[in-house]
Amino acid sequence: MLLGIIGAMNEEVIQLKEVMNLLETKEIGGYNFFKGTLLNKEVVLVECGIGKVNAAICSTLLIQEFKVDKVLFTGVAGGLNPEINIGDIVISTDLVEHDFDCTAFGYDYGVIPRMENSTFKADETLVNLAKRVAANNFGSERVFVGTIVSGDTFVASNDKIKWLRDTFKGECTEMEGAAVAHVCYVLGKPFVIIRSISDKANHDANMNFDEFVKLAAQNSKLIIEGMLKEI
Ligand code: ADE
Repeated sequence: MLLGIIGAMNEEVIQLKEVMNLLETKEIGGYNFFKGTLLNKEVVLVECGIGKVNAAICSTLLIQEFKVDKVLFTGVAGGLNPEINIGDIVISTDLVEHDFDCTAFGYDYGVIPRMENSTFKADETLVNLAKRVAANNFGSERVFVGTIVSGDTFVASNDKIKWLRDTFKGECTEMEGAAVAHVCYVLGKPFVIIRSISDKANHDANMNFDEFVKLAAQNSKLIIEGMLKEI
């Protein structure tokens, strides 16, 4: 089995790259795909860049070019649920593109017109594995399993937090997960998105992000490693 692992930023990918046994690097369109083994599992690791389009391009390439069987996403996010603290873990049950807005035509926020589905469900087996590994590493009280919302926005306001909670019941917000999920849904590949909280998406979010991004990325990476041992 070949696993695709995606992170958006260098901070989210470098720690895995450093411990993998790198066999080949292939560059496509400026994205570097690292092929090799990680804890004796065959993987392709890629830093996709920030935002939904970058994430969609890399997910598609992982599946179509590299023929990965499953997709794991590792990274950081802004917490929306007030019970979630910096460093805690969120594992996706499903993902929504929160900035999809065709409400002018009567659709709800997040609904993609003319698609049968706009909420993309993660693979249950991968979710359960991620949840178990995360609870073993961090304690179950620090692990949240639920909806992740994605958009091309760094959220840094209490009004936006309230809107995202009220509209989608999102546990956390980030900028790639729903795009990965959308591609995996269309191409029929199992996936899970694993995020650790770098900030609480409020007025301090940019400062907290800078301070905690490395720690949060490391938390997420630990879960990927734990999962690889059991996949
Ligand atoms: N990734 C980490 N923090 C985030 C935030 N507040 N908004 C969007 N993406 C994020």
